[in-house]
Amino acid sequence: MSTPPRLALVGFMGSGKSTIGRLLAVRLDVPFVDLDEELEAGGLTIAEWFVRHGEASFREAERAALQRACARLRERGGVIALGGGAFEDARSRAELAACARTLWLDAPLEVLVERIRGDSSRPLASDAATLARLHAARLPTYSLADLRIDARGPAAHVVQQILEAIRPGRSDPDALRDR
Ligand code: S3P
Repeated sequence: MSTPPRLALVGFMGSGKSTIGRLLAVRLDVPFVDLDEELEAGGLTIAEWFVRHGEASFREAERAALQRACARLRERGGVIALGGGAFEDARSRAELAACARTLWLDAPLEVLVERIRGDSSRPLASDAATLARLHAARLPTYSLADLRIDARGPAAHVVQQILEAIRPGRSDPDALRDR
């Protein structure tokens, strides 16, 4: 039997990591882990976490949750949707390099901003200037992912593109670092 796929979706807020990750896991028949949901299962929303304990504490918990998710992926395969800032952490990137193929869901800032407009659950999405600054600062890190996927279209279309890109033997001109 072939090894079950192990994939991690990275990308900015609004890129569709959770929606696409869930659909992708169903198509691949593997477990799905949403890192933000895992953290919120502790009882605090992310917004509350930032207010009560600060971003540094959130990032630490995020790293630990990713470690646990990777351990599960190694056993059973699966798809992980990371939070938009999780891939910034060098230790998390090293962890991921050993446990999953990383896929960057890329879309222009205007598309991302439009998708998250009016959503108050993201503490770092309070204003357009912060979003633009964060997005520009993070692009170099997202581009370290193994594959870049155009995430502008509808979720079902993006999933189809991913399935095509990860097909065994496929060599993708968009591959950033295909392993
Ligand atoms: C964050 C993105 C959020 C969440 C938290 C911080 C970020 O996840 O982890 O609000 O730093 O970009 P999504 O990318 O799923 O919105």
